[in-house]
Amino acid sequence: MVRGIKVQKIKLKKDPHRTHSSTQWLRRQLVDPYALKAKKEGLRCRASYKIMEIDAKFNIFKNGQNVMDLGAAPGGWSEYVIQKNKTGKVIAIDLLEIEPIKGVLFQQGDFTDPKMQDWLTENIGQADVIMSDIAPNTSGVQSADHLRLMAILDEIIQFTDLHLKVGGILVAKTFRGGTSQNLLEQLKQKFKTVKHFKPESSRKDSVEMFVVCMGKK
Ligand SMILES: C[S@@+](CC[C@H](N)C(=O)[O-])C[C@H]1O[C@@H](n2cnc3c(N)ncnc32)[C@H](O)[C@@H]1O
Repeated sequence: MVRGIKVQKIKLKKDPHRTHSSTQWLRRQLVDPYALKAKKEGLRCRASYKIMEIDAKFNIFKNGQNVMDLGAAPGGWSEYVIQKNKTGKVIAIDLLEIEPIKGVLFQQGDFTDPKMQDWLTENIGQADVIMSDIAPNTSGVQSADHLRLMAILDEIIQFTDLHLKVGGILVAKTFRGGTSQNLLEQLKQKFKTVKHFKPESSRKDSVEMFVVCMGKK
């Protein structure tokens, strides 16, 4: 239940050009209270509520910070952060293009491409916050998907070693069951506190979770 949002049953018209997976996606959106709320409130996507909840719980964003948004499309997280951060810089990348967001510097590209990592650091320098909602395309095989996300997370950790300020914060998408033991141990050595968090707005049937690491040593 999301306050003020009434979910109605809607029957989808048949469309021979629509794939099975996009029909499933559409069906979910139509009955998803957070997707409906985002539409009603003029936000880009339901993902905005996840970063709002993470921020409400951990008090992350402040004016004047340099923030990197990895896996930013369609732009809900950046849109939220730039409103709280009028004097800092927000820089974002994604494999997909986004509608421009005033005040956010965006580049389309792959985070794992060293040229993209150079572009990020050349344009913002050291970050106060690095946030990643990167979700590699899923194959349906949970163990394989988990490994791909862990490989990205590993790369993000190496990147934060070099480009996150001392005292800085890392927020990254991971899977339920937590970050792999090895990555978790690495994070605990590098940050003062490491917590897992599942926002209310993250679908209950999704294995998604977030790891919030505060106070880079
Ligand atoms: C859940 S969406 C992000 C939603 C975003 N936080 C928002 O608020 O709009 C995940 C994104 O990760 C992006 N992605 C996946 N792999 C990536 C990679 N290697 N480099 C950059 N972006 C990537 C996808 O294109 C997708 O747009």
